[in-house]
Amino acid sequence: MNEIQELYREVILDHNRHPRNFGEIEDADRVVEGINPLCGDRITLYLRLNKGNVEDITFNGTGCAISVASSSLMTDKVKGTSVSDSLDLFDKIHRLLTDENDYQAEDLDKLAALSGVRQYPTRVKCASLAWHALKTALTGSETNTSTE
Ligand code: FES
Repeated sequence: MNEIQELYREVILDHNRHPRNFGEIEDADRVVEGINPLCGDRITLYLRLNKGNVEDITFNGTGCAISVASSSLMTDKVKGTSVSDSLDLFDKIHRLLTDENDYQAEDLDKLAALSGVRQYPTRVKCASLAWHALKTALTGSETNTSTE
């Protein structure tokens, strides 16, 4: 394992062991459940919006280390940013997780740690679970989303 891979691994382990923004928001504007049908794991995302910004965002539920770490990293990055920047970030992460041309975004910071799952298709669904829930929460009226 090279230095970068080791760093990515540490980021994932840290966010799995100590998930940021774990819990509920009682007065949430949006509550969306994300389900990975492959394993049945699910997370629930809570958002409070204010003037076009994601004022607060939390998650809870159960999932594997990758899905918990990805949810934690996502909420950490999105909290306090605008809805449109959050949707741009969704697109970047989607490319990071799926683009065969080894897409790397310099401004992703710790989120780049998620690129390690790209070569494992089943893990891509784990990593994208929270992100699909985010997109649903920001764009749709639905309250459930699935990685299928
Ligand atoms: Fe269920 Fe990863 S194995 S979300």
